[in-house]
Amino acid sequence: MNKKTLRDIDVTGKRVLVRVDFNVPLDNETRRILDDTRIRAALPTIEALRARGAKTILVSHLGRPDGKVVESARMAPVAARLADLIGAPVPCATDVIGESARATVAALEPGGVAMLENVRFEPGEEKDDEALARALAAFADVYVNDAFGTAHRAHASTAGVAAFLPAVAGLLMEKEIDYLGRIVTNPEPPVAAIIGGAKISSKIAVLQHLLSKVNVLLIGGGMASTFLKAQGVNIGASLVEDDQLETARAVIAGAAEAGVMIGLPSDAVVADKFAEDADYETVSIKSVPEAWMILDVGPRTVADYRAKLEGMKTVVWNGPLGVAEWPAFAEGSNEIARALAAMDATVVIGGGETVALVTALGLAGAYAHVSTGGGASLEFLEGKELPGVVALLDR
Ligand code: 3PG
Repeated sequence: MNKKTLRDIDVTGKRVLVRVDFNVPLDNETRRILDDTRIRAALPTIEALRARGAKTILVSHLGRPDGKVVESARMAPVAARLADLIGAPVPCATDVIGESARATVAALEPGGVAMLENVRFEPGEEKDDEALARALAAFADVYVNDAFGTAHRAHASTAGVAAFLPAVAGLLMEKEIDYLGRIVTNPEPPVAAIIGGAKISSKIAVLQHLLSKVNVLLIGGGMASTFLKAQGVNIGASLVEDDQLETARAVIAGAAEAGVMIGLPSDAVVADKFAEDADYETVSIKSVPEAWMILDVGPRTVADYRAKLEGMKTVVWNGPLGVAEWPAFAEGSNEIARALAAMDATVVIGGGETVALVTALGLAGAYAHVSTGGGASLEFLEGKELPGVVALLDR
């Protein structure tokens, strides 16, 4: 990558402000952390800093408290989980740049780790306020951005602060950009993309960008219905974006022009309503009953997609192929997850729902890379520059 990383600077004994993305799901009532993947993903950076005797000051957001103190969005449970993971105390300030933060930072010993309060309690964070960025920078000698999941936000702690300290990427940020970068620049061919999710409108930029990079493009999820309708298929009562029919046609035409093989469902699991306990059956795509809706791809489609994936050397997957959080409509996604796990290819998984489903299957370790970024990984695959990366020092 063309940005400096933690490997390029000497942090020995220095105070290092590390922006992490510890925006983890919490149980509303117990405040128990439901998935600590993002905390674990930052451990290589944190351990590297501890090993070099740095004083590590972590800063993250949690949820969207909108510039106000929200008790249920405090960082304390996250600091406690991190303390368990590293086997060392992680004192947590009760404010971001106030007295508690100053005292917490001042008490840090070499090799120690502390956490500031939820940075989105500060009204200046999302406005990329210079005063907040300066106040954060004043805590440290070096800034490390390891928050890939928030790198698409130009906020004070992700971008602004980089103007006031030597700013480098952390090891997670480096890994994310390395693997996602392999998809958009010089991937090992042949290359396939599997793009699902509810709406074409949220994936159109990524579809258009990937058309020039891939050999095979497999479509699933709610947005497949719009593609099917654009091709004259009767999709019954399925979710459809009528204002995107032209877009779908343009993607199909673009694929034909670029020599990209497109995969669309040839059968589907259809349901009589949009509900977890709906009645459902598997039908050919040509026989979707009038009042029923497509909620998953069927086994024929899975077999077809598996055949199209054969021999691929690089695969990126973003977006489930059905309503994967409901077991009756998860099989298509689960089968593809298993097929990808068995492939001899660089497989990169991105997007919150897709990551959740491969994690639930216990397969997250079976791929080359599972991104910690939802919106950030999508924007990266769209070819956009991420403000949190742009702000770092060039190599
Ligand atoms: C995420 O969960 O995608 C990141 O933490 C960014 O959160 P945001 O969408 O609230 O900016």
